[in-house]
Amino acid sequence: MALLGAALLAVATPIAVLAQTLPSQSAIASAHPLATQAGHEILAAGGNAFDAAVAVASALAVVEPAGSGLGGGGFFLLHRAKDGFQTMVDARETAPGAATATMYLDDEGKPIPRASIDGPLAAGIPGTPAALDHLAKKYGKLPLASSLAPATRLAEQGFATDDRFAMLAKWRLDALRASPAAAAIFLNNNDVPEPGHMLRQADLAQTLRALAGGAVHFYTGEIARRLVEGSRVAGGIWTLDDLAGYKIVEREPIRGKFGDINIVSVPPPSAGGIALVTMLNILDGYPWDELSETQRHHVLIEAMRRAYRDRTQYFGDPDFVKIPVERLTHPFYSDGLRNSIRMDRATPSAVLPGAPAVAQGQDTTHFSILDQEGNMVAATLSVNLPYGSGFVPPGTGVLLNNEMDDFSIKPGTPNAYGLVGHPANEIAPNKRPLSSMSPTLLMGPDRVGILGTPGGSRIITMVLLGALSFADGHNASDWVSRPRFHHQFLPDEVQFEADALSPELQGALQALGHQLKPSSRQYGNMQAVAWDLRSGAVTAASDPRGGGGAITKTHATK
Ligand code: GLY
Repeated sequence: MALLGAALLAVATPIAVLAQTLPSQSAIASAHPLATQAGHEILAAGGNAFDAAVAVASALAVVEPAGSGLGGGGFFLLHRAKDGFQTMVDARETAPGAATATMYLDDEGKPIPRASIDGPLAAGIPGTPAALDHLAKKYGKLPLASSLAPATRLAEQGFATDDRFAMLAKWRLDALRASPAAAAIFLNNNDVPEPGHMLRQADLAQTLRALAGGAVHFYTGEIARRLVEGSRVAGGIWTLDDLAGYKIVEREPIRGKFGDINIVSVPPPSAGGIALVTMLNILDGYPWDELSETQRHHVLIEAMRRAYRDRTQYFGDPDFVKIPVERLTHPFYSDGLRNSIRMDRATPSAVLPGAPAVAQGQDTTHFSILDQEGNMVAATLSVNLPYGSGFVPPGTGVLLNNEMDDFSIKPGTPNAYGLVGHPANEIAPNKRPLSSMSPTLLMGPDRVGILGTPGGSRIITMVLLGALSFADGHNASDWVSRPRFHHQFLPDEVQFEADALSPELQGALQALGHQLKPSSRQYGNMQAVAWDLRSGAVTAASDPRGGGGAITKTHATK
């Protein structure tokens, strides 16, 4: 981290057009090789990165249903090459109109077990279909129907399921079995399919064909009727008005500066961009080269602790609550946080208000795209927990999310990721739940990085570690593979992959008062693209922990 040491007091300004050498190739990294191929097919047909994003997102809905889909939502961070315009397309789910702050509590005010996790009551109104239509029409070069064609073909002709599909289906088996339509699609004789099982999704192909005519055919008409009726019969509260009223929002990205790298990330309703900038601002004030390995890890953990504390305090849907974005991302604010870090001991999170936590999961998906014009997309999409709510309204092929669990079900009670809620994130009709999804662009003077990952509450610290690896001059395969550790304020513990902290380092951190908790397995599935602005060289990398596909290709300009 040679770049640390120079505290920068100016908040970054928007990036101008990158006037350097164009990318020598286009690059796509996604969580599934078939989705990556779908994106390249669309680039080869004359589409740009935004058309390719439609193709990759819709293909992932077919081949990686555990992570994202038409029944979910997410964030698309865009960079348009011709004018340097950057925006975030917020396709986060919204709470149904009949949702209430106490809808998951019993008469005694206690959370009803699994009510915000399994079945249609757990589902928010999906945003992904609206975003695909918006991307194609506002930013793409090809008709929506063309970019959806690879996904429709995959749904119709089928694909072979893999180990990861089976592992995640096993985890959500009860929820999938509870929904006859979901069991018929994703299970084989009501059991987890063996790897290699050919999965065809005729209903989803039909829905994709309807969507090809425009999002109006998803949010109104026959599909909307099936989504609403199917959900309500099984205990959901969606209405036709909820679907017809869904709107994506374009939001100004969060910007920060780390050394000479411009950080561009996502604003609320994600906590990701602000937390990332806060952590990098804290770290930017340390004389990194003078710190020992233990001290570096100590300040990283303390920066994580402080940024996640703010998450519980301030964040929610910006259309409902006022979030002090300028203050939280200003270097002066982080100077104060840095000053509260003692080098000789860990700060107990217990000195601040909080609550205990529960288990983590693998969920969500991310893809990164660069086309040969220099357009970029970093997109993180989700249905929340693997296979979302596990519920498919009959005749739609659409697996519904359980993103309602990302709301604060009861202030002070942790959600499925152990994240403690706050009134800013309490449920209200049409409100977006707080997210950790953090698709990010790193724009250095001579290199650009596009990255992001699934992983629930650990997403933001994974992106932080990836960004630090970029800042250190490492290549994309290092960003996605580096060993990971995480602190999220509460529980007050450092979670770490087996190879992230040596035994000596563990001892030294414990001596400072850090509680260490080894992760039972590796986590995350980062997908990244790097572009060298001087040579034009492009690389793509998929996390070795997942079964993704990272491909660079030369496409003739059309
Ligand atoms: N559902 C995971 C997230 O939005 O962070």
